[in-house]
Amino acid sequence: MAKILVQGGNRLEGKITISGAKNAALPLIAAALLTDKPLVLTNMPGLDDVQTMSNLMKGLGVSVERDRDAVTFDAARLSSTKAPEELVRTMRASVLVLGPLVAREGKAQVALPGGCAIGARPVDLHLSALEQMGADITIRDGFVEAVAPDGLRGAFITFPKVSVGATENLLMAATLAKGETVLNNAAQEPEITDLADCLRAMGANITGIGTSRLTIQGVPSLHGTVHPVVADRIEAGTFAVAAAMTRGDLLLENARADHLTAPIDILRRVGATVLEQEGSIRVHCSADTLTATDFTTEPFPAFPTDLQAQFMAMMSIASGTAVIRETIFENRFMHVPELTRMGASISINDRSAIVRGVGGLTGAHVIATDLRASVAMVLAGLVAEGQTEIGNIYHLDRGYDQVEAKLSAVGASIQRVES
Ligand code: EPZ
Repeated sequence: MAKILVQGGNRLEGKITISGAKNAALPLIAAALLTDKPLVLTNMPGLDDVQTMSNLMKGLGVSVERDRDAVTFDAARLSSTKAPEELVRTMRASVLVLGPLVAREGKAQVALPGGCAIGARPVDLHLSALEQMGADITIRDGFVEAVAPDGLRGAFITFPKVSVGATENLLMAATLAKGETVLNNAAQEPEITDLADCLRAMGANITGIGTSRLTIQGVPSLHGTVHPVVADRIEAGTFAVAAAMTRGDLLLENARADHLTAPIDILRRVGATVLEQEGSIRVHCSADTLTATDFTTEPFPAFPTDLQAQFMAMMSIASGTAVIRETIFENRFMHVPELTRMGASISINDRSAIVRGVGGLTGAHVIATDLRASVAMVLAGLVAEGQTEIGNIYHLDRGYDQVEAKLSAVGASIQRVES
């Protein structure tokens, strides 16, 4: 099994180019199912999850051709409407083919994704909303079977809870439904705006983009387009933390400051300087100590849960005590025992983690339990005394494009070794 070794103590300085966002690329790929014309996605990140989603599309009969960072998905003829269990279990975002398949073919079978390390991850919101649009949903042998022989019809849907995936599935399904669909209490993450922008370029009729109320007038068909995947705000936020923790100076190219307002506010309170420039963000810090700062994860535009572990790693070496509340997932503190092994002082009380800053961390053998926890261990290793060995790094490869290369290029002592 491969692992990553990090030698702590280096100050990071230089330029990092931010890749396309994993959490935009995955729904954008699913959107290719909505048309029989080619969809070209550029600025596509090189991630295992993108490969998994592409394999799922091939299994449905979609042709996939990559030319450097541009990938063409051509769903001219579908050979299947079934998303197999092994792929859905590997990556729960596979459930995003459900809405497009029902809208395009009138039927779909998608394995139930099941839970993962961070929580139960149900899909009840996706299913109940599709039923409101006229789909008949049954659960059989671990599969969701959805049929809408007469096609989907527009509906007035209010999500009882903000859900990124449910918003994306229903937004895509509604583009081809008969009549008007209104999605109330829709998620507003930038990745949803990116998906909506792409769907409009494909001929969809969507208003309210970027708000919690999306209105979609169904159209008979969509055509192809060329669409750039929006930059990854979570990758940008991760490297911004690396700059602050190592008291370095990083220029994050292609990063969108307007997608990171809440994390930038925390970074400034901690003591980093954040300069928002055209198409990039510069983060530097020369403070002797970082200042512990509380934060709570909530749906966009509030602080994103996908940066919680990374910011916790930073708070573990800040002066003072930070209270971190995780309101999105019920079990997203698995990085706490791993950080504790490196000398952090953190206690958990239900949905809150109380982080008492310590003078420094020491390298240790640690493992990663989910994608964002794994990169938090890399961040901790950057400032720890000695060497940190991180196992289970397949999590990292799912969501970070060449993380060692990007960090090495700005001064980190980091390498991947086969054990
Ligand atoms: C997306 O997951 C992201 N994944 C997650 O990123 C991200 O953490 C999450 O949104 C929140 O921002 C992708 O975009 C591929 P949700 P998703 O539906 O859509 C509950 C990463 O590290 N819920 O917004 O699954 C759910 O259990 C990943 O890149 C229901 O109860 O998240 C959670 O508590 C991790 N029923 C909350 O809502 C449902 O039907 C938010 O989930 C759906 C969700």
